[in-house]
Amino acid sequence: MHVFDADIEALASHVVEYALDRIRMRPPLDGPMEIPRLATAPVTITAEGIGGQTALEEFDERFSRACISVDHPGYLSFVPGAPSMASVLFDLVVGASSVYGGSWLEGAGAIHLENETLRWIADLAGFGADAGGVFVSGGTAGNLSALAAARFRHRRDHGDHGRAVFLASAEAHSSVASAARIMDAEVVPVPVDADRRLTAAAVEATVADLPVDVVERICAVVATSGTTNLGVIDELDGLGHLTRERDWWFHVDGAYGGAALCLPELAADFAGIELADSFIVDPHKWLFGPFDSCALVYADPTVARAAHTQNAGYLDVLNESGDWNPSDYAHHLSRRARGLPLWFSLATHGTDTYRESVRAGVEHARTAAELIEDHPAWELLWGPKLSIVLFERPGWSADEHQRWSDSLLEAGLGLVVPTKFDGRSVLRFCIINPLSDGSVLREILDHPGPS
Ligand SMILES: Cc1ncc(COP(=O)(O)O)c(C=O)c1O
Repeated sequence: MHVFDADIEALASHVVEYALDRIRMRPPLDGPMEIPRLATAPVTITAEGIGGQTALEEFDERFSRACISVDHPGYLSFVPGAPSMASVLFDLVVGASSVYGGSWLEGAGAIHLENETLRWIADLAGFGADAGGVFVSGGTAGNLSALAAARFRHRRDHGDHGRAVFLASAEAHSSVASAARIMDAEVVPVPVDADRRLTAAAVEATVADLPVDVVERICAVVATSGTTNLGVIDELDGLGHLTRERDWWFHVDGAYGGAALCLPELAADFAGIELADSFIVDPHKWLFGPFDSCALVYADPTVARAAHTQNAGYLDVLNESGDWNPSDYAHHLSRRARGLPLWFSLATHGTDTYRESVRAGVEHARTAAELIEDHPAWELLWGPKLSIVLFERPGWSADEHQRWSDSLLEAGLGLVVPTKFDGRSVLRFCIINPLSDGSVLREILDHPGPS
């Protein structure tokens, strides 16, 4: 099992060949049609083992086909993933290298490269020279870790007055409420403006109506730079200045939209992000990395370190070293060097290519909006905003939209699931895959639905 013998060599060529085939082909959409076959699937874990090649064949022919490929160009739901070939290939290398990415002692070289990647992100956001952070598993983990650091700083500076309070709009991602639940904290909702943005004025108006004991427990304001449903960037500038005045932590959730920071034409929309105390962006979304990865960057990482460092006798050797240990900057300890696939992709292609690929998402969303407006069957409801558009078939019920979505998937054309917009069930495109171009979008929009 741990010796590289002839059997493993043969298995290696099958596995690598499979991986190469997978990235070589146009990804199959696959999915639910294959799920019934799982019920009759053979047991794969046995006392003697079924052998690597058989296991790989089972995965290829049965189990992988019951998974929807998020990198299919017709996958336009939730937030798609479209990892670059370079990032996927390097994921294999990360797995093969057995690097422990939690401590400098063990993973210095990998951590150096992850930090170079985080620096690129910090520079895009205009953070200062001291900024730093860590790659965590996803936006949910990033938001939780940032908010834990926010609460830590508030209690350190102002004392512990009880349950922490965070301010966020109803358009903030569900993971903010989830973080608050886990932390036994409260989220005070702030109404959005007509453009669905969280603004400083609305935060001030909300706070003005709160009892004094709640106000003194406010630790942080959470803004979103690219809301998941609508692609809206909150009023970062006003919120940044307000939070500085009030000594509240300013967290910007750019898990989806933060990648658009690399587009100079959108710089005005992101103005103020440099005032944030923490910022997240997910490489597994619009930065073309594989699952699972979120870049979490702090303006002052020393606070995060104080909040998150785990103490135990066997860890003293790490904690007393003064080294940069990524484990210290989030709610985790062991970690793979999950920032490396993004690093390799950036190093391979360069940041200019990244800019063009992110821009493609914005341009395709514009094309989608035009196609919808010109289409006799559909009505455009929202967008394009960043890379999101919402639309509906006038007169269709929620069920009819759902049936159209189901039949699109059954036809193998794409995944376009309904979302809610002002309480109504409508359809939504979120486009990040550069291959989700006009011809893919037209084919989807022309899909008639169930016969
Ligand atoms: C704005 C935003 N924040 C947080 C998340 C959660 O990210 P993850 O699914 O990586 O935990 C998402 C996911 O879509 C998101 O769009």
